[in-house]
Amino acid sequence: MHIPLLSPLLLSPLDSLHALSAQFLYGLLAPTGFFSAPSSIPSTSNGQYLLGLGIADITGPVVETNMMGYASLPQTDTGLHMRQRARAFIVAETSPSGQRVVLLNADIAMGDSGVRRELLAALAAEYGNTTYHAGNVALMGTHQHSGVGGYLENLLPQVTSKGLHPQTLKAIVDGAVLAVRRAHDSLAPGTLSFGTGRVEGGSRNRSPTAYLANPAAERAKYTDRGGEDGDQEWETSVLKFSGADNTLNGRGFLSFFAVHGTSLYENNTLISGDNKGMAAYLYEASIEPHAIPGNNTYVAGFVQGAVGDTSPNTLGAFCESPGKPYDGLPCVANSSTCGGYAQDCHGRGPAFTADSYGFGSNAAIGKIQADAVRNVLHDGSGTAVQGSVRSVHVYVDMSKHEFVLGNGTKVKTCPAAMGFSFAGGTTDGPGAFDFTQGDNKTSQNPFWEIVKTFITPEPSKEQTECQHPKPILLNTGYAHEPYEWSPSIVDVQILRVGNFVVLVIPGELTTMAGRRIREAVQAKLISSGIIGSDAHVVVAGPSNTYGHYITTREEYSVQRYEGASTLYGPFTLEAYIDKYTSLVPFLADDVTGTPFSDPAPMEQISKAIDLSTSVKFDAAGLGRHFAQVLQDVRTTEPYRSGETVFARFVGANPRNNLRLEGTFLAVDRLDSGIWKMVKSDSHPSTIYQWERESTILGTSAVNISWTIESDTPGGTYRLRYFGDSKPVIGNITAFVGASSNFTVVGGSSV
Ligand SMILES: *[C@@H]1O[C@H](CO)[C@@H](O)[C@H](O)[C@H]1NC(C)=O
Ligand SMILES: *[C@@H]1O[C@H](CO)[C@@H](O)[C@H](O)[C@H]1NC(C)=O
Ligand SMILES: *[C@@H]1O[C@H](CO)[C@@H](O)[C@H](O)[C@H]1NC(C)=O
Ligand SMILES: *[C@@H]1O[C@H](CO)[C@@H](O)[C@H](O)[C@H]1NC(C)=O
Ligand SMILES: *[C@@H]1O[C@H](CO)[C@@H](O)[C@H](O)[C@H]1NC(C)=O
Ligand SMILES: *[C@@H]1O[C@H](CO)[C@@H](O)[C@H](O)[C@H]1NC(C)=O
Ligand SMILES: *[C@@H]1O[C@H](CO)[C@@H](O)[C@H](O)[C@H]1NC(C)=O
Ligand SMILES: *[C@@H]1O[C@H](CO)[C@@H](O)[C@H](O)[C@H]1NC(C)=O
Ligand SMILES: *[C@@H]1O[C@H](CO)[C@@H](O)[C@H](O)[C@H]1NC(C)=O
Repeated sequence: MHIPLLSPLLLSPLDSLHALSAQFLYGLLAPTGFFSAPSSIPSTSNGQYLLGLGIADITGPVVETNMMGYASLPQTDTGLHMRQRARAFIVAETSPSGQRVVLLNADIAMGDSGVRRELLAALAAEYGNTTYHAGNVALMGTHQHSGVGGYLENLLPQVTSKGLHPQTLKAIVDGAVLAVRRAHDSLAPGTLSFGTGRVEGGSRNRSPTAYLANPAAERAKYTDRGGEDGDQEWETSVLKFSGADNTLNGRGFLSFFAVHGTSLYENNTLISGDNKGMAAYLYEASIEPHAIPGNNTYVAGFVQGAVGDTSPNTLGAFCESPGKPYDGLPCVANSSTCGGYAQDCHGRGPAFTADSYGFGSNAAIGKIQADAVRNVLHDGSGTAVQGSVRSVHVYVDMSKHEFVLGNGTKVKTCPAAMGFSFAGGTTDGPGAFDFTQGDNKTSQNPFWEIVKTFITPEPSKEQTECQHPKPILLNTGYAHEPYEWSPSIVDVQILRVGNFVVLVIPGELTTMAGRRIREAVQAKLISSGIIGSDAHVVVAGPSNTYGHYITTREEYSVQRYEGASTLYGPFTLEAYIDKYTSLVPFLADDVTGTPFSDPAPMEQISKAIDLSTSVKFDAAGLGRHFAQVLQDVRTTEPYRSGETVFARFVGANPRNNLRLEGTFLAVDRLDSGIWKMVKSDSHPSTIYQWERESTILGTSAVNISWTIESDTPGGTYRLRYFGDSKPVIGNITAFVGASSNFTVVGGSSV
């Protein structure tokens, strides 16, 4: 059933009731609240672990699907820059009954409770439910903004994707399971070490005026940490996985550094991994230069940190207002506006002038992160990790978490709500409506005033007071129809490998919020004698559940985008600090008992609305055949490095077959009379684009391009296109076509 594109503002529960529910292949094995650690397991004190690393493809449909991150209705994908990957890292104690943890870093905008539930069910079906379970598996999103959308379980993030897309969800879950399986199959004895480095100039604070609301004495402690007076955290922590032969780079690593995955702009429609996906590709390709991306054994994990107020747009935010006097000038700082509107204010990455969509800046921010990790691994400063592997996980109902502040006052969190500045967006992606950041007025746009009551219930006096000073735009914590708009119950999880501890956070902490929770947990670990003074704590998020942003109480009072998106009220961060520190005792070597947990959140996927349409049919067109060359490569004279080779083919809809673990294109090189694939659709130098020619006739075309790298060996090459067509009646069939042969004059020959 096709329902025409609805404005997100008009998507009412009534419409939803008339829409179809999604059908799912996966079982619905719900994980329970927590897992206890068996007592009296000897700790791993000799620094020996079993380590496993694996990578897999999680790329959903690369065309005709809304993208996830910017939550922008017009951002529908049209092709592929680089595939999205899941990278799994397993650390296990060596004793047969030892504990283990799985850190799964996925090139997606955020972890999600629905994805996690499906993933855990699939892992339980394969390995039983005591090996990999809710307690020891962390699903971490790199927070990239150029991936395929439609996989999140809650309604609010589904608004722009117009519901849940089963094909996207299945690609992510299947790929995540495959990455864990590959990691599991690669388990081998090894050691861990960690070091820290500096990602100089790798990010910028995008809400510095909110950061300034934090106490001066607190800010003074961090002035050397990066950015303007420490409003950035340029530290990267690198956990190296080494095999029996302890090489400089080891078998792979997990690095933790905060920078938004918004290097590629909102107007880009090619699926990509953004700057962390790029950093991972660059590192992996530097170790295995001839491996096709995704077919590598070295695995580089670039994990997101306290990302909330960070931006990769390091040049700052400027007005793009042609014809206006302020065109090209910096935006108004407090409100991030140009002439009173947010839409014209755009952040600029380091290679702003290189291209229109941010690809140059994306490569630059990816490279800065990869280089910083290389420095850490190569400078020999790493220290060995020793000690037990532990994990603790509980569900917390953040809509009503009561606890006692440090000064003795009892406070509580509130049901979720979005403030007005949420709709204003950020300088990385300005909002689509006329709201400005940091504005306290409760009524600016009469249209919103009408629709907000229509889509979410009017906030009660109690809710308004609880969320104060946030002016409530969307009272999502009270919106339960047709299913939950925002999560109330979130995953709170900590993983420990020796003295290295990962706080798995269900949201986006700001820079200062990240420091507060890291330091609080570290202090508790040391004071309770669980880890010595060498305890090293990092944050990883948005993970497991998407609970939006987490600011400090001071930043919350300013109500920029991040404060407006801090769901559970002014005490959200304090509540998390209370909860995470309370779980520290469960990381002890000789832990006994289990922590209190709220019940797991209700499954929602079976109720999900799916407004995506299936592929009707493909036709080559009169007198044409699939993969026929419509525009050929140049054969009259050779290509040189830096030039772009281009060909256009008669195409078919790539949604017919995602070609996971495969490719839609190849650059082949003739090697001793045999064609050898040297580039796939996942090399950043290649681009795959699909275009509908006629909906009625079912015809389409595909553009393939390759920009020749400077180290490309000379020789004879060709481009190939792999497609799958769906006839009106019958099965989807694969086809392949090739361009003419062409010559590349290289700097060297192989
Ligand atoms: C694990 O599986 C067993 C046997 O099927 C079941 O009794 C138990 O409840 C399951 N535990 C979890 C956490 O799902
Ligand atoms: C803008 O923010 C700065 C720093 O917080 C503050 O000093 C100034 O008063 C603010 N200006 C307005 C117009 O709010
Ligand atoms: C992937 O790697 C394996 C093992 O090195 C190799 O046999 C295979 O041909 C590679 N596949 C591709 C597509 O490069
Ligand atoms: C895409 O967006 C960027 C950032 O706003 C802008 O500078 C650029 O001109 C846009 N490109 C096109 C083609 O619209
Ligand atoms: C404790 O701090 C909270 C938040 O700042 C404040 O509302 C409360 O009045 C304080 N309580 C005491 C006893 O000072
Ligand atoms: C918004 O209101 C809060 C408290 O009511 C105040 O502290 C803050 O300065 C206000 N922000 C702006 C930008 O006016
Ligand atoms: C694909 O190539 C054709 C022919 O060169 C061009 O007209 C078209 O704009 C290209 N499509 C895209 C999406 O770039
Ligand atoms: C279509 O595929 C199914 C399942 O693979 C197969 O049984 C059937 O024979 C195929 N039909 C045709 C017309 O090839
Ligand atoms: C391309 O090169 C291959 C291998 O030498 C050859 O078999 C083929 O005929 C060539 N194709 C064209 C169109 O010249």
